[in-house]
Amino acid sequence: MTKYIIAVLNQKGGVGKTTTTINLAAFLAHANRRVLVVDLDPQGNTTSGLGVDKQTLDSTLYDVLFSRAQATDVIREVTSHGLFLLPANAQLAAAEVELVSVMNREQQLKQILQRLDYDIILIDCPPSLGLLSINALTAAAEVLIPVQTEYYALEGLSQLLSVIGQVRQALNPSLNILGMILTMYDSRTSLSEQVKQELDKHFGAKVFKTVIPRNVRLAEAPSFGKTIAEHDKWSKGARAYKALAKEVEKRLT
Ligand SMILES: Nc1ncnc2c1ncn2[C@@H]1O[C@H](COP(=O)(O)OP(=O)(O)O)[C@@H](O)[C@H]1O
Ligand SMILES: [Mg+2]
Repeated sequence: MTKYIIAVLNQKGGVGKTTTTINLAAFLAHANRRVLVVDLDPQGNTTSGLGVDKQTLDSTLYDVLFSRAQATDVIREVTSHGLFLLPANAQLAAAEVELVSVMNREQQLKQILQRLDYDIILIDCPPSLGLLSINALTAAAEVLIPVQTEYYALEGLSQLLSVIGQVRQALNPSLNILGMILTMYDSRTSLSEQVKQELDKHFGAKVFKTVIPRNVRLAEAPSFGKTIAEHDKWSKGARAYKALAKEVEKRLT
C-alpha cells in the first residue's frame, strides 16, 4: 500500500505546481523514498520536464483512466533512482469531458492509485478545479498548495479552500491540507516579504518555513528534461526544494 498521496493543486496557472512537483519528488527520491509522480495536466509539462517525450508515448494516464492500459505498464522510472512517472499528454484533455458520464467519476484516479505501492505519490494537477482536480483531491490524503509570490497571491485561495471543503464533505473526509509553499520569492523586493506576512497571517503554521526563490536554474532545468537535483544541485533553487522535502517528510510522519 502506498503510504502518502499528495495532490499539488492551485487552480491558477503558472504558480509553480509543476516545478514543485518535479523537484520535491526528486529530493524525496534522493532521500531513499520510492516516489511516483502522476502527471494529471494535459499540458504534460511534468512528463517532458522529467525527460519523457510526450508526443511519442504509446500509452498514458488517459488510457489507464479508461481501462485501456494498466498503470504498471505505463509507469516508467525517470532521471534518478527511485523516481517514477505516470505520464500524460494532450489526450488527457478529453478525460475532463469523457469522465462526466462514467460511474463514480470522481473516484477513477483513486481506484488506480490504490492498487500501487510507493512510499509517496505526488499528483501534479491542471490549473482548474474541474473533474481531473476533483479526482486528485479524492485520491489524495494531503493537498500541497504552491502560492506564487505576487500581489494577487491570495486571490483564488478562498475558492480553492471551499472546493477542498466540499470534497471533504462528499468524498474524502480525511483530506488534509499539508501546507502552502511560497514560490518565486524575490528577497530583493519588499512585496515578497509582504506577501509572506499576509500568507502567515491567514494560514499560520500551514505555511512552510521554506520559501522557493525565483531562480533561473529552476526555470531552465525542464528544457534538459532534468530535475534541479541533476541539473544544478548547488543552486539556490535546489537547496530550497531539498529543504522543502525535509519539511514535508517531517509533516508526513
Ligand atoms: N522558483 C522559480 N524560479 C524561476 N522560475 C520558476 C520558478 N518556479 C517556476 N518557474 C517558472 O515559471 C513557469 C510556471 O511554473 P510551473 O511550475 O510550470 O507552474 P504551474 O505548474 O503552476 O503552471 C515555468 O516557466 C517555470 O519554469
Ligand atoms: Mg503545471
